[in-house]
Amino acid sequence: MQDQIRTVAVIGCGVIGASWACLFPSRGLNVLIYDPAEGVQKMFERYLQNAWPALAALMPVEGVWAKNYKFIDNLESSLSEADFIQENGPERPEFKQALMETLDQYSRPGVVISSSSSGLPASKFIGRCQKDPSRILRHHDINDPDFYRSLGKKPILLRHEVPGFVANRLQAAINSEAYSLVSRGIVSAEDLDTAVTSGPGLRWALTGPFVTNSLGGGGGPNGFTQRIERLGPAIRAWEEDMLKHRFDWSEESVSVLKEEASKWLDSVDWDGVVGKRDQMLLSLLEVNSRTSKL
Ligand SMILES: NC(=O)c1ccc[n+]([C@@H]2O[C@H](COP(=O)([O-])OP(=O)(O)OC[C@H]3O[C@@H](n4cnc5c(N)ncnc54)[C@H](O)[C@@H]3O)[C@@H](O)[C@H]2O)c1
Repeated sequence: MQDQIRTVAVIGCGVIGASWACLFPSRGLNVLIYDPAEGVQKMFERYLQNAWPALAALMPVEGVWAKNYKFIDNLESSLSEADFIQENGPERPEFKQALMETLDQYSRPGVVISSSSSGLPASKFIGRCQKDPSRILRHHDINDPDFYRSLGKKPILLRHEVPGFVANRLQAAINSEAYSLVSRGIVSAEDLDTAVTSGPGLRWALTGPFVTNSLGGGGGPNGFTQRIERLGPAIRAWEEDMLKHRFDWSEESVSVLKEEASKWLDSVDWDGVVGKRDQMLLSLLEVNSRTSKL
């Protein structure tokens, strides 16, 4: 499938759309960008300017220019040019349904419309599509993952639909415990971040929970079993405590959490963080692609 894809439409150019709109040209694709928000092109160009040098170094593609994109303001007249559509609009089911209806209407039948939705399964937003609803997917649902592989992504297979899918559920589990610890005053938000970035976060880019657990259990084919047997009972006791103190999302807890978070976040140099984060993430991806799967 990826050989036939030359032009990709990026629909919605916020946090997620902008990163797709940077990635596609770096892989030699033409990009059409649609986003009705005012000033979005300027914001995207600033983002692209910062991201491009590292992106181009990471994935050098002959003859590619950072200008391989075009903002469009009329889906009806432009969408038929797209060979693949990446949807990144706001995460609201009724909004996605209406947007998908428009995308389905103005694109060529058979062209995949892939949604970036964090938690909505495709079945929740194809209801109003008349032309070809079978080509509308959540990008983790995609039948032919080769296109995403060709972009340097690593698709995974979900055997059943679940809200939030896999990576977002894992993040939600960590966030929930982080919110609980910080709102209970056990640790500051700054130290909580440090506990992740200097602790398990360092390894998680290299080995996932199963390989990490196996290594923690002594490694080898029995490492995982040994860890479960040795540490399982202790971890269950922590889990009971975690469940008892689970972040409850009450107005009061959210207000304490925000107050605690802002003590840390108000002092962050945001421009510096974003630039450095992008640069280091790209370096990490580059190292990771050289080391193959651990
Ligand atoms: N931010 C994350 O960490 C994250 C991670 C994974 C997936 N997602 C998913 O990606 C999608 C986009 O999230 P985001 O964080 O980039 O949101 P965002 O609010 O930053 O961006 C959404 C963009 O959609 C634009 N938009 C509004 N109406 C539109 C329309 N009719 N047509 C086209 N564009 C329109 C907005 O102007 C905005 O720029 C959501 O479905 C979200 O769940 C987000």
